[in-house]
Amino acid sequence: MFSLQGRTALVTGSRSGIGRAVAVALARAGADLVLHGRTDDLDDVEKEVRQAGGETTRWAFDLSETTAIPGAVAALPEVDILVNNAGIIRRAPAAEHSFDDWRSVLDVNLDAVFQLSRAIGVGMLARRRGKIISVASMLSFQGGVQVPGYTAAKHGLAGLTKALACEWATEGVQVNAVAPGYISTDNTTALRADPVREAEIRSRIPAGRWGRPEDVAGAVVFLASAAADYVNGHVLAVDGGWLAR
Ligand SMILES: NC(=O)c1ccc[n+]([C@@H]2O[C@H](COP(=O)([O-])OP(=O)(O)OC[C@H]3O[C@@H](n4cnc5c(N)ncnc54)[C@H](OP(=O)(O)O)[C@@H]3O)[C@@H](O)[C@H]2O)c1
Repeated sequence: MFSLQGRTALVTGSRSGIGRAVAVALARAGADLVLHGRTDDLDDVEKEVRQAGGETTRWAFDLSETTAIPGAVAALPEVDILVNNAGIIRRAPAAEHSFDDWRSVLDVNLDAVFQLSRAIGVGMLARRRGKIISVASMLSFQGGVQVPGYTAAKHGLAGLTKALACEWATEGVQVNAVAPGYISTDNTTALRADPVREAEIRSRIPAGRWGRPEDVAGAVVFLASAAADYVNGHVLAVDGGWLAR
């Protein structure tokens, strides 16, 4: 039920953090991987994925080039599982948050997801089989502080997940998202370096600790598998209980 044997998965932003843990977990479940990075710095993750038993293809592409995405995707192998993981964050108080930062975050975290999901989703619809899993956030549900662009993008991502799920559920394509809580990756380096914010955050997490990238990977494997064939448009929190608080 959870085997991904014979499936090919594309994980965007698989060089580091959550994307890397997801790529390795999908390979352990039997999938082959299209590894993606903004640059071709993918040797380490490729080695790990191969050790886990997955075949690999590499795709270096800057997802902020949103209009070039459909053309670039045409050169990739057939993808059965798309994990929209790549994302950036820009922190500044809303009154000082530059429009350039807003635009950059929306481009990579939302526009690129729409472009990729559509470009790859078309093939899935033709084959009447596919899984699209996007990496949302607690800020798909909450406002946060000093991250207005990120919050807007991640709320949009949750909405896009539901919109695509509603259209594609009858066509054999399941579209869902995972919403990680606070995970130790490059994305949260600044938060973890601030002793006051770090302690505030940790004290609010019922599990009593920050998450690890591997904590998110199992939920993605589930949503990528036949076990989730009747799960559509769901945003699954993997947050140590943060939202339950
Ligand atoms: N860490 C958390 O607490 C947390 C919580 C909720 C959601 N998330 C989400 O989880 C996802 C992964 O983040 P992470 O925490 O694992 O941080 P991360 O280690 O910084 O990973 C982000 C990945 O996205 C890639 N990326 C960024 N901009 C790109 C671009 N323009 N083109 C192509 N690739 C690009 C990065 O590649 P390069 O390094 O090569 O640029 C990197 O591999 C993001 O969507 C993030 O919003 C994280």
